[in-house]
Parts: sequence; C-alpha cells; structure tokens
Amino acid sequence: MPDTVTPSVLDSIRAIVGDRGLLTDPSDTAPYSEDWRRLYRGRTQAVVRPGSTEELAAVVRLCARTGTAIVPQGGNTSMVGGAVPAEDGSEIIISTARLNRVRAIDPVDLTMTIESGVTLKAAQLAAAEAGCLLPLSISSEGSAQIGGVLAVNAGGNNTVRYGNARDLVLGLEVVLPDGEIWNGLRRLRKDNTGYCLRQLFVGSEGTLGIITASVLKLAPAPREIAVALCGVATVDAALSLFTRFQAHDAASISAFELMSGLGIEFVLKHIPGATLPLESPAPFYVLVELATPRPNAGLRAMLESVLEDALGESIVLDAAIAESDAQRAAIWKLREEHSEAQKREGASVKNDVSVPVSKVPAFIHEATAACAALIPGVRAVPFGHMGDGNIHFNLEQPVDADPKWFLEQDHPIMDTVNEVVRKYDGSFSAEHGIGKLKPYMMPDWRGGAELALMQRIKAAIDPAGIMNPGKVLP
Ligand code: MLT
Ligand code: ZN
Repeated sequence: MPDTVTPSVLDSIRAIVGDRGLLTDPSDTAPYSEDWRRLYRGRTQAVVRPGSTEELAAVVRLCARTGTAIVPQGGNTSMVGGAVPAEDGSEIIISTARLNRVRAIDPVDLTMTIESGVTLKAAQLAAAEAGCLLPLSISSEGSAQIGGVLAVNAGGNNTVRYGNARDLVLGLEVVLPDGEIWNGLRRLRKDNTGYCLRQLFVGSEGTLGIITASVLKLAPAPREIAVALCGVATVDAALSLFTRFQAHDAASISAFELMSGLGIEFVLKHIPGATLPLESPAPFYVLVELATPRPNAGLRAMLESVLEDALGESIVLDAAIAESDAQRAAIWKLREEHSEAQKREGASVKNDVSVPVSKVPAFIHEATAACAALIPGVRAVPFGHMGDGNIHFNLEQPVDADPKWFLEQDHPIMDTVNEVVRKYDGSFSAEHGIGKLKPYMMPDWRGGAELALMQRIKAAIDPAGIMNPGKVLP
C-alpha cells in the first residue's frame, strides 16, 4: 500500500467527515475510479464525501500535511479522464456530491449562488422556478455537477449566444491546496481589483484547488422558443443556413448544432424512442434553436420565413418545426444521445476541436479524408456546436475491427485530425479540457512561454503537487 494513505490517515479523515462521508470498500469506490468512457480504470483507497466546505477544507489540510494526493470529482462525466485516480492507489478522491445546496437566487441581480455538487440539470430547474434561465446546457447535464462544469470550463449548446461556463462566473469559493478557504463569492458585474483569480480556477481541472461554490450569472427566462431540425446536403449548406439566421436576428440564435447522417443513424438504431421527424434521411442535419425573452417577438414566423427561403434555394432539403414541448424534446434527444449511441455502436476516438466557424466545412471535409487514408473503413461522425466552431470529430471503429486495437490507434488518429485543426488555426481541445488524455499534446500546442507560465502558476499555488496529479500539464 502506498504509504501516504495509511490507516491513520483514513482514521483522521473519518474523524472529520464521519462514516457517512467516507467510502473505502472496493465495491463502493470502484464506480468513482473509472471514467464514463471506460478509457481509464484507476484505484483508490478512499472516496471522501464531505458534507460542507469546512469539512472539505479540513480534509485537504490533512492531505497537505501528510502529502496525500487528491483527485477532485463531481459527476465523473469527464470526456478526457480528468477525474480518475492513478492505478497505484496512492490518491484519494474528494467528491463534491454532498455540497448540494442552492444557497440563493436573485431575480433582480440575475445571479445564483450555488454549491458545487448540484447537478447542472437541478441548477437549471432551480433558476427556471425563479423565473430565470441558467444559460448553460451540455449533454451530460443530468449527472455533471456545477463544480466540475466550472473546473473544466464546459461549453455546450448555448455557447453561440452566452459563451462558455467561464463567461457565467461572477464569484467563486475555493479550497486551496493547503486547505485554506478563499471566499470570493462576490456577485458584482464590475469588480476590477487586481488579478482575476476566479478565472484561474475555472478551467484548471482541479489542479489548483477545489471549487466548492460559485455565483453564476442568469438570464431572463425565454418567453418564446422555436426549434427546427433541418436536413442539408453538405456542411457548406449548413454554414450558409447559419449565416442566414445571423443576418435575420443573430441575437436570438441560442443553439446551432450540426449532426451527420451516420450520427443520426446510430441514434435511431441504439436509442429507444428516437425517431426522425423528416420524410427521408439526409447527409447532414442542423438543429437550430431560437429563443427570446421579448413578448410577441415573432420568432416562429422568422424561423418559417428563413426556412422557406432556404428550402426554395435547395440549401435545406427538408425541415420539421417543433409544435410542442414534447416535439422540441424529441428533436433535442436526437442530438443529446449522440455520445451514448456512439458508445453502443462500438469503440470510438473523440476529437473535441474548434476552428473558426467559417472553416468548419473545409475542416470536416479534409479531416474525413485524412482519417479514411489512415484507417480504411473508419467511420467519421462529425457533430456538435457548429455555431461556435466546436466540432466533435469522433471516429467510430471500422465495422469488423477489434475495438481494443482501434482504441490503441487513438494517438495517430488524434494527431491526424489535429494536423487539419492546425491548418485552420484551431484548438485541439475546445470544451472537454485536457485531463489525462491530452497532456502529451501540450508541449507541441502550448509550449514555450505559455506552458512555462502555466507550470509556474501550478508550482506557486500547489507546490507539493497534491492536486489532481498527472492532469492538464505534461
Ligand atoms: C456533446 O456535445 O454531446 C459532447 O460534448 C460530445 C462528445 O461526445 O464528444
Ligand atoms: Zn459538446
């Protein structure tokens, strides 16, 4: 047994959090030790579930004293293994799950003060009950917790309109690697007082401290929402549809999502209840959502008129407009179940990349050709947040390939896709972060002064290196 997690360390943790806050039985800790994608299986001797920020801070103080490494964990939905412990059992997991109170919502200030263990879905519902909108939506929102969402600076479906998680954060409460609590829970729109520390922790993936609570910006609740699913022949046509909506009323576009024919096929095949509301399948699809808090804004009429013109010019092949909340949910289901359907179809390698929106068609075209040349029979499933240039360029194994062999090709596949990303001045990680999967790419993409600065920040804030070791930095 690695000597930092000794029986006496475990006894001291139990004295802080009680029996209810500590899991040590391997059958209890196993689900926390493996990631959602099943890329990594680690091992831990303890999953600590503190019931308050003070308890969490006391556990971190103990870890700092004993040199015990910590893996912070929220809903464990990372796409890059960001919340899995090492295989040698030397790291404990600190779960934020029991920090699950909405502390306050202010519909005048349009802010929400919330603890890190609240799921994104529950936070959205709490905002809606107060007549507001928490404008952040990701496919895993039913399990993903606010703390993790902020720690990875999640993006999702509404970035085109509201930005990433980072853009919604006004204040943070963080437990630092020495166990001190930084209370930065200010809810000001203007606060120009030195270095912006909260933005250092957002996107740090638990390597600088543990976010325990936050103040998030809300928006007025939408009064009108219009959603359509459109079949298009090419990604160029999808882009041209996007520019039409932009020209009509850019401010009302709250999502503009791209899907491929194959991606939809997988959803229809693997997800019970999924149906295509169009007469015939198309090579690509766009899900467009328009929303506005303005009364009588005429969104539906605008949607219809843009689509009619686009149908007339054969930019859109076919379109279905949702007539009810149920139809809207059914259209979103086709998009949100993409990852699950791909998982059921077989092994897949994910590339969460971004390029300028105008380059999305060229990028998809060239990356598809490059991957087909690398692995004949590989099935490209590009989809995602076209309105902000973030494409999930996922590759599904060839039909008859051995899944294990295919997953071993992840580096050559990711490197091939990234060459095309580089050509268009894009990013190798748009919204999923770096985790355990991508630190090897950092020297190449963020080397020199940028990586050196990140390493100095890490050394200054976490000199003993106990916070989420092996993640983000190579
Ligand atoms: C999504 O947008 O559904 C996820 O971020 C995508 C993925 O599975 O790569
Ligand atoms: Zn996404």
